[in-house]
Amino acid sequence: MKIHLRGIDLAFDEAGEGTAIVFLHGYPFNRTMWDEQAAFFSRRGYRCVVPDLRGLGESTEVGESGPEDKHATMMEEMARDAALLMDSLEIDRAVICGLSMGSYVALEFVRLFPARVLGLIVCGARAQGADDKERQSREEQAARIVEEGLEPVAEAMLSKVFARRTLEEKPQLVARVREMIVQTHRTGAAAAQRGMAARRDHSSFLAEIRIPTLVIAGREDSIRSPEDAEFLHQHIRQSWLETIADAGHLMNLEQPEVFNDKLVKFLDVTH
Ligand code: MLT
Repeated sequence: MKIHLRGIDLAFDEAGEGTAIVFLHGYPFNRTMWDEQAAFFSRRGYRCVVPDLRGLGESTEVGESGPEDKHATMMEEMARDAALLMDSLEIDRAVICGLSMGSYVALEFVRLFPARVLGLIVCGARAQGADDKERQSREEQAARIVEEGLEPVAEAMLSKVFARRTLEEKPQLVARVREMIVQTHRTGAAAAQRGMAARRDHSSFLAEIRIPTLVIAGREDSIRSPEDAEFLHQHIRQSWLETIADAGHLMNLEQPEVFNDKLVKFLDVTH
C-alpha cells in the first residue's frame, strides 16, 4: 500500500488487528526485513505497520535537483513520516520498534511524540551522534553511492552485518539481504547516509524516556557494539537488555524465532 504525504509516496505493509507495532527498518534495507515479524505478530493479536522509510524501498523522496544535489534525509523527517502514517491509519499510540537506522528514527519518534509511544524496542542501536570521523566517512560513502551505486556497499556490508554462523549456514538469507541492498535507490541511500551523519546525539535525552524499553543486541554485531546497547540500557530507566547468540547486526533475520520470543516477553509484560 502507499499513501501520499509531505511530497512523497510512502509505501507500507499493514497486517493484523490489536495493539499497533510500527517496525522501522535499517539502512540500506527496506520494509521486507520485517516480514517474519509482521507475519508472526499479526497472527498474535497485533496490528503491524511496516513502512519503507523515505527514499528507501518503494518510498520516494522529494525530487533531486541535479547531480550537485547533496540533500540529507533527516532521522526526524522519517519519524514525522511514521507519525503521519499512524494518523492516516487512525492509530493514536503504538509500540515503536527500530533496528539500527530504524533505532535512530525510533529515538527521534520518542523525542517528538512521547505520548504516542506505548513501548520502545531498539535493536543494533546507538544513542550517540556521529563524531567528525564518522561524519566524514558517511559523506564519502554518500558520494560513492551516487557515483557507483549500491553494489560496492553490498560487497562491503554483507560480511559485517551477519554472525559467522549465518554466513556459513544461511546462504539464502545472505542472498536476500544482498538483493535488498542492491535494489536500494542511489539518491535515497545517499540522502539517508547524510541524514545519519547529521543525526542528533540522544545521549542526554535517554534519561527523559519514561517508556518501557527493550534493547536488543546481536552478540556478534560488528556494526554496533555491546557497549552501545549497554549505554542505552544504563540510561533508559525502564529498560531491559537482551542479547541474541549467533546473531549479528541483522538479528531479527538471523534468529527470527529467538528475536520474536524476546519481543513476545516484552510485549506480554508491558501490554
Ligand atoms: C543500519 O543497519 O541501519 C546501519 O548500519 C546504520 C548505520 O550505518 O549506522
